[in-house]
Amino acid sequence: MELLRVKDVSMIYGHRAVLDNVSLSFEEGKIIAITGRSGAGKSTLLGIISGLQKPHKGSVYHKDKDIFKWMDFKRARFRNRTMGFVFQFFNLFPDMTAYDNILYPVSLNRKAPSGIKKEIEALAELLGITEALKRNPATLSGGERQRVAIARAVINNPSIILADEPTGNLDEAATKGIIDLLITLKKERGLTTIIATHDETLVKNADINYHLEDGKITVLERAAKKPAGKAVKKKPNSSAM
Ligand SMILES: Nc1ncnc2c1ncn2[C@@H]1O[C@H](COP(=O)(O)OP(=O)(O)OP(=O)(O)O)[C@@H](O)[C@H]1O
Ligand SMILES: [Mg+2]
Repeated sequence: MELLRVKDVSMIYGHRAVLDNVSLSFEEGKIIAITGRSGAGKSTLLGIISGLQKPHKGSVYHKDKDIFKWMDFKRARFRNRTMGFVFQFFNLFPDMTAYDNILYPVSLNRKAPSGIKKEIEALAELLGITEALKRNPATLSGGERQRVAIARAVINNPSIILADEPTGNLDEAATKGIIDLLITLKKERGLTTIIATHDETLVKNADINYHLEDGKITVLERAAKKPAGKAVKKKPNSSAM
């Protein structure tokens, strides 16, 4: 089923169309890799899909609704309820422990689900950051911070994850842990993940690879092999804010 559609989107900086009348569709429950050299417009495209950045031309539809026709508050609520973000530069809160960083999106909910502590601990174990939970980001390695950011992005049970270079600081084993997590969440919760990346391992595990060049999108390759993901406990309560 189609979840998101980008239609005739252009983004022009100076004389350069970073996105030049781009149209593409994202299906529910898929892992989508967006590749392209530095400056090709990957982060710009993610910003537009999230509704944070309005394109100069064109529309973004979420389940057939044009998200840029909504009032700002409605778009913000939509973002909080349906999306999790992994930013290119993590954006962790420096004065909070890793645990509190991961808990943060949940703490915005009206009511924290019971069992959240166990869930964070299970996620941390899966991602190999158990020892990091009590520490602040400044004392963590780049790769550990990145995995804390990923845990924070998935903790609120979003239906879409937007990840900007989520494995830039990770070794092979840690990258594999993230792929396992994303594949598990895709299978168990129908999570859709859109990843801007240069990482070959991630691209290989994506269901579809869109490539950005000179403002245009092409489909590079389809259908990944499917390594088994580990089990992650389902969460009953999800979205309210
Ligand atoms: N607000 C802005 N004003 C002017 N130019 C911008 C603005 N935002 C982005 N750009 C330019 O648009 C281009 C695309 O930027 P973007 O951050 O989307 O690239 P990217 O593909 O994510 O690159 P990277 O792989 O380095 O993260 C770049 O050349 C950038 O300098
Ligand atoms: Mg970028």
